[in-house]
Amino acid sequence: MKKQTEKPVAGHPSAVFVPCGQDAAAGEALARSLGLPCVRQQPAEGLFLQWDAAGLSLRRGEQTLRGDFTKMLPRLRADRLAGELLVRAAKCKNQPAPVAVDATAGLGEDAFLLAAAGMTVYLYEYDPIVAALLRDALRRAAEDPVLAAVAARMHLTPQDSVAALPHLPFTPDVVYLDPMFPRRTKNAQVKNKPQMLQLLQGPCAREEELFRAAVQAHPRKIVVKRTPKGPWLAGVKPSYAITGKTVRFDCILMTDPTP
Ligand SMILES: C[S@@+](CC[C@H](N)C(=O)[O-])C[C@H]1O[C@@H](n2cnc3c(N)ncnc32)[C@H](O)[C@@H]1O
Repeated sequence: MKKQTEKPVAGHPSAVFVPCGQDAAAGEALARSLGLPCVRQQPAEGLFLQWDAAGLSLRRGEQTLRGDFTKMLPRLRADRLAGELLVRAAKCKNQPAPVAVDATAGLGEDAFLLAAAGMTVYLYEYDPIVAALLRDALRRAAEDPVLAAVAARMHLTPQDSVAALPHLPFTPDVVYLDPMFPRRTKNAQVKNKPQMLQLLQGPCAREEELFRAAVQAHPRKIVVKRTPKGPWLAGVKPSYAITGKTVRFDCILMTDPTP
């Protein structure tokens, strides 16, 4: 049996910190739902969540990670959006408003691009902390007159998509997969957003299962995000790929639903 006083494992936030003057009841409810203590004094070290007027954030020292769709606004201009590699990769012939499943939602930025392009997106995220950050970003987007229409097309389920994909109550046009890339260097400094996320979880170890589950949803297309020279997901050769400077989208056309 673990003792109550035991230190949290590295990579898991120790508490939800609600600064003085903030909505303590909402912070406490959130902490309860995540099985974390709610504290009024900022933890001196390690990872913690903070609930304040700006919403929910994951923090460690000077670093902050928050879901925030407002910074995506410059990418939503019609001329720019149509050129987004992901939007091009997810496009479906003769289907102006495809239904997509983002099976590895993270903080929802890729899903937001797809929703901005007119798709309805069902998002799955199995990490409860990431899902809480995403839910909060969607809540704030729904209250923003500019973002609300896009956020309304995004539907989050905090669940493992490997379990969910074979039993969806609908047939998606596209399943999108962006599992965590391996860390580039062993001692990489945890500074930017993907690396902050990597504090919570390691690289995806279930790529084959994830791909098999995507196939079982019977989409017209599976789109996989990779680094430009990264290996194919689960070793599956894509039908074609769209490659940019920092990213590659492998597109697998599912003409045969059981390859
Ligand atoms: C690289 S991040 C995705 C980033 C995302 N595309 C974005 O734009 O913010 C990968 C995310 O997928 C989630 N994930 C991995 N496997 C999953 C699964 N089987 N079900 C649900 N979420 C999963 C991880 O918890 C992580 O948050």
